[in-house]
Amino acid sequence: MADVLTISEVSRRSGVASSALRFYEQRGLIASEREGSGHRRYPRAVLRRIAFIVFAQRLGMSLDEISDELAKLPPHHAPSRRDWSRLSSTWEARIDERIAELERLKLGLTECIGCGCLSLDRCKLANPGDHAARLGAGPRYWMG
Ligand code: FES
Repeated sequence: MADVLTISEVSRRSGVASSALRFYEQRGLIASEREGSGHRRYPRAVLRRIAFIVFAQRLGMSLDEISDELAKLPPHHAPSRRDWSRLSSTWEARIDERIAELERLKLGLTECIGCGCLSLDRCKLANPGDHAARLGAGPRYWMG
């Protein structure tokens, strides 16, 4: 198994398009080395960084936030389990927030979500006269 991968190999294994990998690299989220021909070569450990980036984005983290998180990892060698654990407090908090959000989303499918529509019979009880508008814009009961 090769320790160093081409951009196509990284793309194939990670499921992330080469264009996105180049973008991540421009943003400093991942790094490659150039061989004599100028082609990018990535250490195999980059696959774990990419998996982190993809899932952090799914959790709603911005690229700046992801960059701050990845900056906690050692730049010149494959991160160890301990290195990754340094990221876990932020990561776990975001996962918990996301779980709570998805739970509210699930419950809200048939309930009043406080969006101002007043279209369900339940809205009369849950959001009389669009009381939720006082909390601000959007589906306030969904937003938590
Ligand atoms: S679902 Fe929109 S205000 Fe109740």
